[in-house]
Amino acid sequence: MQSSPSKSLRGKASIPGDKSISHRALILSSQVIGNTQIDGLLEGEDVLRTAKALGLLGVNIKRASSHTWQVQGVGVGGLSEPGDVLDMGNSGTGTRLMMGLVAPYPFTSFFTGDDSLRGRPMKRVMTPLEHMGIRFTAREGGKLPLAVFGTSQTLPIEYTLPVASAQIKSAILLAALNTAGKTTVIEPEATRDHTEHMLRYFGWQVETTKLSGGALSIAVTGHQNIPSSDRQITVPGDPSSAAFLVVAALIIPGSDIVISHVAINPLRIGLYNTLREMGASITFTNHRVSAGEEVADIQVRHSELRGVTVPAERAPSMIDEYPILAVAASFAKGKTVMKGLGELKVKESDRLAAIENGLKLCGVAYDTKNDVLTVSGNAQPPQGGAVIQTHYDHRIAMSFLVMGMASKQPVHIDDGSSINTSFPGFAELMNSLGAGITVATAPKPVLQKMPALTIAIDGPASSGKGTLARRLAENFGYLYLDTGSIYRAVGLKLIYSGKDPYDKRAAIDAAMGLSEQDLANPRLRQERIGQAASIISAIPEVRSVLLDFQRRFGKNPKGAVLDGRDIGTVVCPDADVKIFITASLETRAKRRHRELQGEGIEVVYESVLEDLRERDERDAQRSVAPLIPATDAIVIDTSHLDADTVFLQVVNIIRQKYFSSKIA
Ligand code: S3P
Repeated sequence: MQSSPSKSLRGKASIPGDKSISHRALILSSQVIGNTQIDGLLEGEDVLRTAKALGLLGVNIKRASSHTWQVQGVGVGGLSEPGDVLDMGNSGTGTRLMMGLVAPYPFTSFFTGDDSLRGRPMKRVMTPLEHMGIRFTAREGGKLPLAVFGTSQTLPIEYTLPVASAQIKSAILLAALNTAGKTTVIEPEATRDHTEHMLRYFGWQVETTKLSGGALSIAVTGHQNIPSSDRQITVPGDPSSAAFLVVAALIIPGSDIVISHVAINPLRIGLYNTLREMGASITFTNHRVSAGEEVADIQVRHSELRGVTVPAERAPSMIDEYPILAVAASFAKGKTVMKGLGELKVKESDRLAAIENGLKLCGVAYDTKNDVLTVSGNAQPPQGGAVIQTHYDHRIAMSFLVMGMASKQPVHIDDGSSINTSFPGFAELMNSLGAGITVATAPKPVLQKMPALTIAIDGPASSGKGTLARRLAENFGYLYLDTGSIYRAVGLKLIYSGKDPYDKRAAIDAAMGLSEQDLANPRLRQERIGQAASIISAIPEVRSVLLDFQRRFGKNPKGAVLDGRDIGTVVCPDADVKIFITASLETRAKRRHRELQGEGIEVVYESVLEDLRERDERDAQRSVAPLIPATDAIVIDTSHLDADTVFLQVVNIIRQKYFSSKIA
């Protein structure tokens, strides 16, 4: 997906239901006798997984109409052994809450999930449930897939949360419903209390006590008598989803929007308090209470923001909002310091790393140390113009699309499908307010009647730029020039005539005598030739001799793709498309090693790594054509991307820019 700089956002929006409350509405409706109608349920993939898991446990759940669902509750103790694995998809909340729910039952439940969920820690929920008498078998490190060996003989516990997590608290409270005696959770730091609110709304007694020192004790006695009855709940809008609209309106000049019916539970609005401290114009109006939750309409106007310090204690009340706060901070004046971000590393992705990577690619200054992220803004829009890897994390995807609405260049994300886990219809809703988010489709093979473009692909050694450039040339029917081969050809001439690559005069002569045929010599790929090329390419006179040759090639009327290190900056500063490919040193060394092995060349990996490291150092120090992306280049970090993905992303970028109106 791509988002382009937008005009002001205006109008009224209503957003999908709250994800946390939706999970709890389904789960707790299953634990009472009677029919519960849930209006405004979030129909995102995460919540639908919870509905499906409850179905496998014998609960009858039906979708009555759009966002209205009916749950036929079976009451506490009424679940039956699931006939299949509970596949929770991407949802950490669904998994952890459901693990607690099924624990006090005399049957075994199997849980799994997608790649991201299978990498997330479950020990934090297993440990307290083990104290209650439950046994588990999980993968190394307490990861999914795992089996919960439940028992109807669970014991009540008193448990102090080692991590401020509403999911752990809720798992214990749900297990407590079917456990004789009083189970107590102690929270040193308050976390979202939707489970407690909804338990009370349904008729359970929940004792919440403030302890000395500020901790909170939450106690539930099991097997309470909840009268059977039909019920109704309206799920309010999700403040974590509203956050994307709020920040978009704040950073796009002239914006003025209202988001109706949003949950404003005090333990969820840390971001809103922070943004207000930064100078944001955010007003809550029309306060009301719905199913035990505070709700309001939110008005937001474009505002000049300034950096603030966000204390670690605030993290639980805005844990999902740091990616979008980092975006807001990129537009603010001064430093925004966000403390206590350790938990971000175990969310749907390592969010801290994903934020850093996205900020770096969009040209935002930041620094991270000891779980503290500092973003430095200068009250100007960041550069943007990057492809962001989302790691199938919905909040990373939406945050950087918001960045692209107000940065200088459009921002692309590699995959927008994760957005459906929490915010179906995100792009359509944003666009209805004035944003310009587009979805790229898979590219078609070779297309006829292309305009003849000049495409510049730059990047460090073994970053994959050659593979990409060759494939692009093939796809669009353009000519291809590996500019590295020009320097290699000069190097080859020198080496084979017994000259030293440091001999400047000889190198200039060899460059002047270069012909097209020299570029086809199979010996060009030899490692020693590559090293010679790296030496002579740092000689300014050699570069200027070869510059004309490359420029002529770039202007070829058939269209041209050139790859090198200074194509976008020096050789073809007017190129139509500029891409800068990078990857970590280790990734590049691995690729190069594999490539050499494929060519039948036996070298040890360590020497390839060492070689590249030296080349990088030389590249970084050289004064001629230093390796830097052009200011209007799109930077793609391919460390975690395969060649196909990079190719498709770039084809889509080119197609969107030049062919969108011409291709069906
Ligand atoms: C949630 C709690 C938070 C939050 C998640 C939803 C919940 O996780 O990140 O999106 O509904 O209880 P933790 O409790 O693990 O911090």
